[in-house]
Amino acid sequence: MKGLILSGGAGTRLRPITHTSAKQLVPVANKPILFYGIDDMVEAGIRQIGIVVGDTKAEIMAAVGDGSRWGIEVTYIPQDAPLGLAHCVLIAQDFLGDDDFVMYLGDNMLQEGLKEIVERFEHEREGATAQICLHQVPDPQRFGVAALNAEGQVVRLVEKPVDPPSDLALVGVYLFDPTVHEAVRSIQPSARGELEITDAIQWLIDQGHTVLQQILTGWWIDTGKLTPLLEANRLILETLDQSIEGKVDGASSIEGRVVIQAGAEIVNSTVRGPAIVGEGTRIVDSYVGPFTAIANDCEVVHSEIEHSVVLEHSKVTDAGTRIVDSLIGKQVEVFRSHQRPRATRLMLGDHSQVDLG
Ligand code: DAU
Repeated sequence: MKGLILSGGAGTRLRPITHTSAKQLVPVANKPILFYGIDDMVEAGIRQIGIVVGDTKAEIMAAVGDGSRWGIEVTYIPQDAPLGLAHCVLIAQDFLGDDDFVMYLGDNMLQEGLKEIVERFEHEREGATAQICLHQVPDPQRFGVAALNAEGQVVRLVEKPVDPPSDLALVGVYLFDPTVHEAVRSIQPSARGELEITDAIQWLIDQGHTVLQQILTGWWIDTGKLTPLLEANRLILETLDQSIEGKVDGASSIEGRVVIQAGAEIVNSTVRGPAIVGEGTRIVDSYVGPFTAIANDCEVVHSEIEHSVVLEHSKVTDAGTRIVDSLIGKQVEVFRSHQRPRATRLMLGDHSQVDLG
């Protein structure tokens, strides 16, 4: 069994963060989203992983490297344009050969991991050529949606339907045997110009192949937007145990499940978990509240922040009001200058959002 992780595409929904960075590398609890997928594959016993990369190829390659950190072999598969999930299978054919594989969308995270899902396809598939995972959602229009018959068999798949046939969304984890290669060669681009994996799976069904389904009950998050990203951060932070490797001075208080990574420094501050403070980050005269992840080499001085994600090398100084529900990119500065006239002075990138409260 091989693994195929899709990490190309354009991250339009997390702009402006993803103007410059890959959305799959945005950190959740200080670890890139993509690494959770790789960890899950490794746990499922997969050792050969192909990663489809697009415009952000260099950044993904720098973060993942050759895979030796996980004891795996990584092959990068460049995609010139995001032409669809089935297009990714098409261009990965040389890498995949005649092996079964699990395809994983690099911006998805799931609570149950991949081990049991992969084992079912390996040992209990009884002639099925593909297996999909489903999750009940309140807003199926945003996803691929499956219709099942009375026996629970998959009969129809539609991508982002205006009028969904069920509330069962396709999770970004798919298992295939080599029959899928014929399917991706046989379908045509959809109205939005993409080769849809839902159409390839529908082709398998129409040719009389069995497609297994499994409804997941643990949490599943498509992290491509701010709210689900903060939610994923919350869920992962909840699972961390307290660990203090950095320095905490006597005037500070650390409450609950807090991770202070090596080289971080907490001075005259309160950190209330679950929260994580990255390597080399300084928290001075401040309050860091629950569900906050502050990445490496940041500074929070004389400020309050909670339920937020702060990326590397950013500074929050003298913020005045508590910062909540926020995603702060890399090398951002939020500060109060006390300059007259008193005013809010902004320099925001395209697609930024500011809520003045
Ligand atoms: O998250 C689950 C949903 O993912 C499914 O319910 C949908 O059926 C499926 O189409 C997909 O929808 P999204 O709109 O969320 O897909 P997105 O364009 O965000 O792409 C998912 C991942 O695949 C993302 O990490 C980028 C990567 N990708 C995407 C395309 C279209 C590629 O590497 N190449 C591509 O051509």
